[in-house]
Amino acid sequence: MSDTKYVMAIDQGTTSTRAIIFDHKANIIATGQKEHEQIFPRAGWVEHDATEIWVNTREVVGQALGRASLQNSDIEAVGITNQRETAVVWDKRTGEPVYNAIVWQDTRTQKICDELGALGGGAERYKDRVGLPLATYFSGPKIRWILDNVEGAREKAEAGHLAFGNTDSWVLWNMTGGPDGGVHVTDVTNASRTMLMNLDTLSWNEEIAGEMGIPVSMLPEIRSSSEVYGEGRAKGLLAGVPIAGILGDQQAATFGQACFEVGHAKNTYGTGNFMLINTGTEIVPSKNGLLTTVCYKIGDADAVYALEGSIAVTGSLVQWLRDNLGIISSAPEIEQLAASVEDNGGAYFVPAFSGLFAPYWRSDARGALVGLTRFVNKGHIARAALEATAFQTREVLDAMNADSGVDLTELKVDGGMIANEALMQFQADILGVDVVRPKIAETTALGAAYAAGIAVGFWSGEQDVIDNWAEDKRWTPQMDTDERDRQYRLWKKAVTRTFDWVD
Ligand code: G3P
Repeated sequence: MSDTKYVMAIDQGTTSTRAIIFDHKANIIATGQKEHEQIFPRAGWVEHDATEIWVNTREVVGQALGRASLQNSDIEAVGITNQRETAVVWDKRTGEPVYNAIVWQDTRTQKICDELGALGGGAERYKDRVGLPLATYFSGPKIRWILDNVEGAREKAEAGHLAFGNTDSWVLWNMTGGPDGGVHVTDVTNASRTMLMNLDTLSWNEEIAGEMGIPVSMLPEIRSSSEVYGEGRAKGLLAGVPIAGILGDQQAATFGQACFEVGHAKNTYGTGNFMLINTGTEIVPSKNGLLTTVCYKIGDADAVYALEGSIAVTGSLVQWLRDNLGIISSAPEIEQLAASVEDNGGAYFVPAFSGLFAPYWRSDARGALVGLTRFVNKGHIARAALEATAFQTREVLDAMNADSGVDLTELKVDGGMIANEALMQFQADILGVDVVRPKIAETTALGAAYAAGIAVGFWSGEQDVIDNWAEDKRWTPQMDTDERDRQYRLWKKAVTRTFDWVD
């Protein structure tokens, strides 16, 4: 395969949309990026403007191509990766969303979840079929909310005019022509986050869709994560380029980190943190608050599954300190502020802004900053905020060890916050295992690029991913065990202070 061709990944994330062009050795050739507005109409509600996301997607594709002086004929394939669960419902006739996208962090569907649970089985009602507890996090109840609350939406859905998708499907449908023949497809990993897909058959569960009042006709067709779904629309910058990979962002990072064997795990530090451990072709139910999810499916090969520990708020807590409290003016400043003090001064910050996800799944929880005295200053608060990421990760790792029966011996990491050296050291200290950063830290985009490149023969398969992966840095635990246990005990106590906050 010639080195002069490239693969592009589009990463439609929670805070921004990016386009990244990779060469055959997985080097980054050019990047385009644009943030979109975070809309908070009420406490607990989080929305995005899906039209803005599509406009931004076109813009960042143009930025990346322009910066690399490339055009559509230089790009062999495009892969899409995305914030998962975020629900877009649009009218296929016009291409207009009927409502803002309801973001994965949004908690408005609590009542819907409670009502479904009350039909029998409580939060575990669908878990054996879809691998997920009934929680506000997932797409299905968000679709139901839109159909219940947007005037005329249910009638249009029943008449077959509406389409649902996570942002992968929304971007793909628009890229392939929108109302003029757009392809309405998703991949198995995104479908596994809706609460509507059978984990074993990888098809929509009509009974669950029926209970949620969602017409199956509005759901995308479920395909593998690596195959040609369609090609760029004639009028677009990527005209004729095969769009050949889709993976939810956390699954994409797992793929990009070359976690191909049972027991391989990675942890991504983004808006939230998401740790996934490969469980192979086996569907492993969790007894410790993890999700069972599809990890990837390459073409006709069997699906590979994972256990996932999802943490709603990690990097977004730093944004909150910047935007809502103003104690830092840019996200990287948190490192300096945290370094201005020796320790957390006794303060513990549990950012249960969207309730608590793994391993608790407590939608009644809300954030708490505890252990305060007159001694505590903004440096301590910055430190407590960073430490919250590491403590939450420890809780998820403990759950993974308990579920798999084997203790992880090291953790591969990626995502924005891994640039923070002090946090990574503290992470290794609190986990008691090595933390390992790869040379190419853009593993999410890279994972989607690999899925697309493998589908068109640009890369031959998983061995190329393994060959391109290289270790950059390793942090080894330095804290003594007593101190680690003391801090973790206090963290656990702080977590209990967030419970029972919402009626
Ligand atoms: O499940 C939500 C996750 O996919 C969002 O990831 O990196 O866009 O915050 P990120």
